[in-house]
Amino acid sequence: MSYFKILGLEEEPFSTSPDPAFFYESQEHKEALLRLGVAIELKRGLSVILGDIGTGKTTLARKLFSLFSDKSRYDFNMILDPASDSELEFLSSLTDSFEIKPDNFSISGYKKALERYVFQKGVDENKTIIFLIDEAQKLNSSSIETLRALLNYETNKFKLLQLVLLGQMELLPQIKEIRNFWERIALKYVINPLNEEETRGMINFRIKQVGYKNGIPLFSDEAIGVIHNYTQGCPRRICHLCHDSLEALVIRNRERVDKEIVQDLISEEMKVANGK
Ligand SMILES: Nc1ncnc2c1ncn2[C@@H]1O[C@H](COP(=O)(O)OP(=O)(O)OP(=O)(O)O)[C@@H](O)[C@H]1O
Ligand SMILES: [Mg+2]
Repeated sequence: MSYFKILGLEEEPFSTSPDPAFFYESQEHKEALLRLGVAIELKRGLSVILGDIGTGKTTLARKLFSLFSDKSRYDFNMILDPASDSELEFLSSLTDSFEIKPDNFSISGYKKALERYVFQKGVDENKTIIFLIDEAQKLNSSSIETLRALLNYETNKFKLLQLVLLGQMELLPQIKEIRNFWERIALKYVINPLNEEETRGMINFRIKQVGYKNGIPLFSDEAIGVIHNYTQGCPRRICHLCHDSLEALVIRNRERVDKEIVQDLISEEMKVANGK
């Protein structure tokens, strides 16, 4: 029997998949989402969200997708990995994502098809076209130039393409170098790690989402303090440590994760990391 069933939970509470049902609105994530929503609704063009590894960028992307799912108003497309070896390959991944066919398989054939698509959806059908690229630090300079050209499509009042880039911090120097791209960014936002209160909030929220009803919190305050210090408020690291803590709780046949359980796990992890 799975450990979470033994604890009376319906599902795994600390799975590392970016499920929007587990999206906890920390101050940082909430603000990122709000500001993205405003930039998209006002059709301001380019938004860039940065964050260290595991801070919740892909989870945010899924949440945004679920918020803009009304197909009569929005045309939401995503690329989860934009790595490509050539301009042609990148253009082909864009047309694939929009599900359109190029006029012919040349650079200009792809570009014409993209232009037609943007004007058809954005002007004729009056839809807001959202194009989100996750792992944007993998974009090369030729792909960034292609995106810059797409951002040129506009009416007198607004941009036709709402481009959202989500990437690790190394994206920052990459796009800063390309000045005419950098200057077009309407929203720049960095997702910072959670503070201790938010770490607690996220842990309790995720446990509640999987049907935990017992009045006694599964994690003691001290345990959460240790988890926060060790993970530095990084959501992915918090999820890993909480998952291991709940497994240890079941193995030790205890009722509550206390600081000893967490500290033991951290010592074990440090031993492995140091090769001892
Ligand atoms: N706001 C949040 N609420 C609840 N869980 C979150 C939140 N943000 C992130 N997580 C959890 O943290 C983990 C890592 O999140 P995610 O994969 O979105 O990070 P990332 O920034 O995309 O990482 P990477 O830089 O490696 O791509 C996932 O398990 C996710 O469920
Ligand atoms: Mg990610």
